[in-house]
Amino acid sequence: MANPLPVLKIGKHAPRYPLIQGGMGVRISGPSLAGAVARAGGIGTIASVGLAVASDIYNGRNYFEANQVVLRQDVAEAKKSSKGGIIAVNAMVALTDYDLHVRSACEGGVDMIISGAGLPLKLPELTTGFPDVALVPIVSSVKAASLIIRRWEKLYGRLPDALVVETPLYAGGHLGVTKMEQVFDEAYSLGSVIPELVRYLDEEVGEDIPVIGAGGIWDRDDMDEVFAMGARGVQMGTRFATTAEGDADTRFKQALIDAGEEDVVIIKSPVGIPGRVLRSPFIEKYLEGTVESKPCFANCLSHCSYRTERQAFCIAQALVDAFRGNWEEGLFFCGSNVAKITRVETVEEIFAELFGPAE
Ligand SMILES: Cc1cc2nc3c(=O)[nH]c(=O)nc-3n(C[C@H](O)[C@H](O)[C@H](O)COP(=O)(O)O)c2cc1C
Repeated sequence: MANPLPVLKIGKHAPRYPLIQGGMGVRISGPSLAGAVARAGGIGTIASVGLAVASDIYNGRNYFEANQVVLRQDVAEAKKSSKGGIIAVNAMVALTDYDLHVRSACEGGVDMIISGAGLPLKLPELTTGFPDVALVPIVSSVKAASLIIRRWEKLYGRLPDALVVETPLYAGGHLGVTKMEQVFDEAYSLGSVIPELVRYLDEEVGEDIPVIGAGGIWDRDDMDEVFAMGARGVQMGTRFATTAEGDADTRFKQALIDAGEEDVVIIKSPVGIPGRVLRSPFIEKYLEGTVESKPCFANCLSHCSYRTERQAFCIAQALVDAFRGNWEEGLFFCGSNVAKITRVETVEEIFAELFGPAE
């Protein structure tokens, strides 16, 4: 018998199951995946980054406008397919047009904004006029959480509706630490951060703010372990990236299915922080120092070593190539769990395995 599940309520939104599918860009988690997860009883998340490039609206000159149009359309599509389920948008603070992503998601009717890759210090201000939209920062330490909480309380009289703790030890994508040597530092493990954060929220903030664990979670045993640390939910990325409903090209999914542990590598991303990726031919060349970048197409990041110093490469182009299944030229983000993926699963199959057959 599995342990009883915690009840997760984030602002006004209570999913049937305490599971968030993490936002995965560029367009690895779009409206199809998010809608399916929300329909199955979890929280489905659309990643807002780079949506323009993967759409027909983009004409090479209208990146920022197209992003907003596509994001609104995607939220509406995911909400419709979710059949009353909960849809979130993942907006990265590091984006040049971050403010517009948040506004467009709210205007499009999203239920929740989940925001990391920097500290979302202005999030309450950006969501003014949308009181039902739940606000969920992603952090990797208690220090980051307390900075956000103190700022929000002082300036806006508002607290986060939940906090996602993402551990760099196992998670996919950009990792919430600045130095390479911090990636495997046990001080950033879920076992260290979650209990300390739960204690801080309870004793020092004195508010009931749910904590959600992310990074390296694959099955019900992993979930139960994170719940036992005091978390009331989990966020999972990699396992959902290769689902039938996942929005990426089938060759993206196949690359992750084919990968073993030895194919995963940590790189210093052009954003300036470490990221966990597959050792694709493109990444091999980057590690050897011979990579040739495609041109920067939109000045999309507030810090980018390719745009400012012509170092590394245009990450947006490489992520779009991965979304399209271009193994030679793509950057394939993945969590350390990638070696466990052996086939394309459906969202329904994953939920049935984790929580039992749907009622
Ligand atoms: C392909 C991929 C793309 C990702 N893109 C984003 C992103 O755009 N924004 C973000 O905050 N996190 C991103 N993540 C992190 C996930 O949302 C999630 O928190 C993380 O993958 C959880 O760890 P897991 O993959 O071990 O389950 C990405 C992860 C993957 C695998």
